[in-house]
Amino acid sequence: MARRLMLREVDTTPKSSVHPLLAHPVFAWLGLRPAFGQHTAAEHAALKRWAAGKSRLVEIGVAEGGSALGLREAMSADGTLWLIDPFHLSRRRSVNAMKRAAHRAVESCPNGQVVWLEEFSSDAATHWNDEIDFLFLDGDHAEAAVEGDWNAWSPFVVPGGVVAFHDARIFPRGWTQPDWGPVRVVERLFRGQPASGWQIVQETDSLVVVQRS
Ligand SMILES: C[S@@+](CC[C@H](N)C(=O)[O-])C[C@H]1O[C@@H](n2cnc3c(N)ncnc32)[C@H](O)[C@@H]1O
Repeated sequence: MARRLMLREVDTTPKSSVHPLLAHPVFAWLGLRPAFGQHTAAEHAALKRWAAGKSRLVEIGVAEGGSALGLREAMSADGTLWLIDPFHLSRRRSVNAMKRAAHRAVESCPNGQVVWLEEFSSDAATHWNDEIDFLFLDGDHAEAAVEGDWNAWSPFVVPGGVVAFHDARIFPRGWTQPDWGPVRVVERLFRGQPASGWQIVQETDSLVVVQRS
């Protein structure tokens, strides 16, 4: 089977590993290169580990669909994966190659059901009322936005369920910085005096996974 995904190395991004002419998402949409995942192979394995067999999964921040494809492959066959991204960064909104690349990547796997919510996570939260087993926060990385996602979405996570934060940890040779939003939010909520009812269960590269007790 052709490779469907290009993950990042600790010190290079997938974008820097392809010819600059192929970096645009239109080439992933057309199938001329694999979709980019904006996370490492170790993070991908950790995401799949915690998504395995889960039934109600939510990802905030989809981009070309790299992590979403991994979650879909790992989730329960009778589960649902909600993918939230406004895809607002495209310069040509009528074409929106990023969105089309994401659909191509995620739809290359037939497992479970996928529901696309093409909106900002703060807007999606206003009409959300389902329980969640697995939540991946990888949307707006501003500190206030990460905290807003945590406050809006974590109350829906069931006991035993998990929340994964990306770009949330400093690690050797890594790209994150102490003043990054996810790093600061995770530091404040879970290190020292952890938020009551939650504990860190895995830290891999920039990924931090917390579980509701
Ligand atoms: C870092 S990328 C996601 C990478 C993807 N999870 C992966 O690992 O390949 C961030 C994405 O978040 C989306 N985004 C930005 N602000 C958002 C918001 N408020 N709600 C939902 N998605 C948002 C952007 O459109 C972008 O596609």
